Amino acid sequence: MASEKPLVAVTCTAPVNIAVIKYWGKRDEDLVLPINSSLSVTLHQDQLKTTTTAAISKDFTEDRIWLNGREEDVGQPRLQACLREIRRLARKRRSAGEEDPLPLSLSYKVHIASVNNFPTAAGLASSAAGYACLAYALAQVYGVESDLSEVARRGSGSACRSLYGGFVEWQMGERADGKDSIARQVAPESHWPELRVLILVVSVEKKPMGSTAGMQTSVETSPLLRFRAESVVPARMAEMTRCVWERDFQGFGQLTMKDSNQFHATCLDTFPPISYLSDTSRRIVHLVHRFNAHHGQTKVAYTFDAGPNAVVFTLDDTVPEFVAAVRHCFPPESNGDKFLKGLPVRPAPLSDELRAALDVDPTPGGVKYIIATQVGPGPQTLDDPHAHLLGPDGLPKPAA
Ligand code: DP6
Repeated sequence: MASEKPLVAVTCTAPVNIAVIKYWGKRDEDLVLPINSSLSVTLHQDQLKTTTTAAISKDFTEDRIWLNGREEDVGQPRLQACLREIRRLARKRRSAGEEDPLPLSLSYKVHIASVNNFPTAAGLASSAAGYACLAYALAQVYGVESDLSEVARRGSGSACRSLYGGFVEWQMGERADGKDSIARQVAPESHWPELRVLILVVSVEKKPMGSTAGMQTSVETSPLLRFRAESVVPARMAEMTRCVWERDFQGFGQLTMKDSNQFHATCLDTFPPISYLSDTSRRIVHLVHRFNAHHGQTKVAYTFDAGPNAVVFTLDDTVPEFVAAVRHCFPPESNGDKFLKGLPVRPAPLSDELRAALDVDPTPGGVKYIIATQVGPGPQTLDDPHAHLLGPDGLPKPAA
């Protein structure tokens, strides 16, 4: 047996988050500093998560990364920024005279392997979970204990919100160096146990414009975005925080929908215009408003990011009826039993009154499937060494 441990590996998982007050636009592209604060809900990792192993060894000759089993270019600027940042924090810690928990040199190269438990093809934002997981795993392997907002943020802005469970705000900050642009938990995952999240995965015809390029064009051309950031979002952040604290679903749901709509309005105000919503997305908007009108109150609320999938918030007692309404409007095509994934949903009939109120011509196959989930915790470290995605040689283990 070798006297020195040849390789130190850490495996972590991190969640996806969905913004209810949207981040759109940077004031500093390089440091990834936003033009407004944002607030999100962390989704449960039982349904959606990224798992990442980071390993360091004196035997590694270069930094390497594998995503979903395929080796990727480690030189991409965002990844490099994360690696630089974590090594800077580790160096800082060491020079501050704190004890080094790992007997390994900072000059050691790192191997990283990362997988998602959900199909990337579903068009669900995976970069937030991915970069949060990367920051969390790198921090442990290099012995960094400070706030990781900056590391995750340099990978993808929204990733800093995936560093915490429950309800999370990303404070935009004011400083030019970004030191005060950090994520913070507003309420823990146990705070609102009845809240449920349904992801309506919509058929995607073409790849939409990515967030980074999209928001850059919006910042350059949309006067509405500027107005939103300066004059609308500050009050909305305060109001959304109140709704979360008071578990006020009516207020939470209405503001969530309004903020999603305003974000998509700024996309249309961008020149040339950007449109992320599809006909099916608009049908879902219509369905939600009809459903709420039928009940005379906000029972369900939609939000859309930079793509056509809808994320719907509701309370547990409304899930069965809303799912029945979705099935009615978007009859599942071939995969009948696979239409519902995630948390079990009790089958419920659709009343004649609700069917009439929805007033739609069904669109078969418009919604490919639904993932039912809930609010969940932040990143976790897996203690079981079998969980490592990298073998003792530092290369990805063959997929089981
Ligand atoms: C619409 O975090 O993906 O999902 O910082 O350029 O990587 P970059 O952008 P990203 O943007 C997310 C935009 C959004 C809204 C949100 O999550 O707040």
